[in-house]
Amino acid sequence: MIGQNDNINLEVIDKKKIALGFFGLFYVGILLIIVIAGYLYLGNLETFSKNSLIPPSLTGDTSKPVADLPVIKGSVTPPLDLVSAVVVSAEKTEAGKKLYETNCSSCHGSDGKGDGPAGKTMNPLPRNFHDAKGWTNGQEFSKMYKTLQEGITSRGMASYSNLLPEERINLILYIRTFRNDFPAIDKKELTDVDNTYSLSKGMKLPSQIPVKTATELLLDEKKPQDAKTESIINSIKNDRNSRGAEIFKRISPDIGRSVNALASYTKWNENESAFVKFVSLNPSSKGFGSQLSSVTTEEWSILFQYLKGMF
Ligand code: HEC
Repeated sequence: MIGQNDNINLEVIDKKKIALGFFGLFYVGILLIIVIAGYLYLGNLETFSKNSLIPPSLTGDTSKPVADLPVIKGSVTPPLDLVSAVVVSAEKTEAGKKLYETNCSSCHGSDGKGDGPAGKTMNPLPRNFHDAKGWTNGQEFSKMYKTLQEGITSRGMASYSNLLPEERINLILYIRTFRNDFPAIDKKELTDVDNTYSLSKGMKLPSQIPVKTATELLLDEKKPQDAKTESIINSIKNDRNSRGAEIFKRISPDIGRSVNALASYTKWNENESAFVKFVSLNPSSKGFGSQLSSVTTEEWSILFQYLKGMF
């Protein structure tokens, strides 16, 4: 017998079901949030670990845009006659002064007292060239040359290896004008520098181009490659006759991916076993599917010959 009470009971049960349904949805929602958060975390993992690997002192203030590298035409520095390069002249100290004002005075101060505006908060403070005590590398010619060539980066003094040897020497000659009791530049000093940096043999500087230009060049270089893989993909897709194409389509649900994988590492081309090894290693990352295990020895050979002819 179905009475009014039964109807009410049914309604209550329906409401309970709906309420349970909402609870279910609630849990699904939470699960989704966890999955998305996990996904974002994994996506950023690489950035996190990279950032934590680089000590902040080396990266500096990353919020400021970093200037790209300037274009430098590669050059061969002619052998330098060190003995005459260190003979003081007004021209050399004047050239050194100009370099000093653009490159060094912000930290070392325009009078070389180590009181430049950019160096005020540094620890240790930039060297006061008027003070003979407490140098890290030393105030001898060879030691200052080393400082300018290699920098003392852990203590905030950068390397000026981008300058020419003569420019570094002119800078040292200028710094030496701040005081008159710098140690003399004797023969041993010169031999030390020459033995370490072989200035008398000359030096080769590689060319340098901005990262942006280099990236564009690389992308341009990649274009013909893309056209080639594109045509291989199409010819495999449209090939309905050869057994090679038939096997390839059977084992690769993602032809584009597989062809790109094959194009990125061409050493598989050398022999069949290298090919089998390459395809079988991490097959799914290369677009190959589970059908791979069904390939017979004979089919491997056919496939290898087929692909070898195309790449
Ligand atoms: C960003 C700031 C900064 C700039 C720019 C800078 N220096 Fe320094 N320099 C330092 C600091 C900091 C020290 C102290 C390092 C130490 O005590 O070990 C130093 C130390 C030196 C020393 C002494 C090294 C020693 O043996 O103690 C020389 C020489 C020197 N700088 C030359 C130069 C020249 C030349 C330039 C320009 C081409 C220059 N520096 C640009 C910060 C700077």
